[in-house]
Amino acid sequence: MRLEGKVAIITGGASGIGRATVEKFVREGAKVLIADISLERAQQASDEIAATGAAGATAACQVDVSVFTEVEAMVAKAVEVFGKLDVIFNNAGIAGGKPLLDHDPSVDYEPMIRVDQDGVYYGILAAGRQFRDQGTPGVIISTSSIYGEQAAELSFTYSAAKAAVISFTRSAAYELAQFGIRAVAITPGRVGTAIINQFSDELKATFAAEQMRNKMTEPSEIADVVAFLASDEANAINGTVVHVDDGYSS
Ligand code: NAI
Repeated sequence: MRLEGKVAIITGGASGIGRATVEKFVREGAKVLIADISLERAQQASDEIAATGAAGATAACQVDVSVFTEVEAMVAKAVEVFGKLDVIFNNAGIAGGKPLLDHDPSVDYEPMIRVDQDGVYYGILAAGRQFRDQGTPGVIISTSSIYGEQAAELSFTYSAAKAAVISFTRSAAYELAQFGIRAVAITPGRVGTAIINQFSDELKATFAAEQMRNKMTEPSEIADVVAFLASDEANAINGTVVHVDDGYSS
């Protein structure tokens, strides 16, 4: 029950890493606003988790993280439903890409930057203001990627956005420490979720072979790390990147 009494927002909480993290947080006693572009899937996740009788509580919220007013409303909803906010996990994201010289900027650059980069900035800004105004410590965890630290095939825009997440994290930690706010980025490697499952079996086998256990990371294994980072046990971890990539980057 490491997160007992904590209130968290998890964006992209309806599936994959986000959903696994909601489940972990609730088992650890947190109250979680499951925020996703799909209200239907967020509500379904909330209902299914409530049915397990886990210690914490959940509520669902529709948000498009690429729209700042919606992110502000999401933070307001967490406070309205659960009374305060302690943790935001900026995790919603989209993936995919084309060779650089085939790009149409309005299709292959701008939409992904709006979700994967701007969405994290908006989450940091809206939650940071809430933490400051509450006068309580806050934790901002954001999902980058191994691609945020390296070039990769078909990954020009995704890598740029995920690199920005790391930069935002460092700068936010630097500026917001005065308010007792921590910021940490995680870089998953290959995690078995919808983003990866769209690829062929052959490519998935290649992805698994790139990791030291010769398997993809489980979403629940990422969730375990996020729960630790959100807890008071991680108070000394700030402004940095935690690699949860099964050795991919080593
Ligand atoms: P997923 O596709 O299972 O989950 C992403 C969730 O984000 C979905 O529920 C989706 O509805 C939601 N979402 C998408 N656009 C949104 C928007 N504009 N506003 C609000 N919600 C939105 O994928 P997964 O793998 O769980 O991805 C979570 C994060 O992890 C993403 O940021 C992704 O880039 C990152 N990541 C994933 C890796 C993997 O191997 N699966 C590796 C490295 C990073």
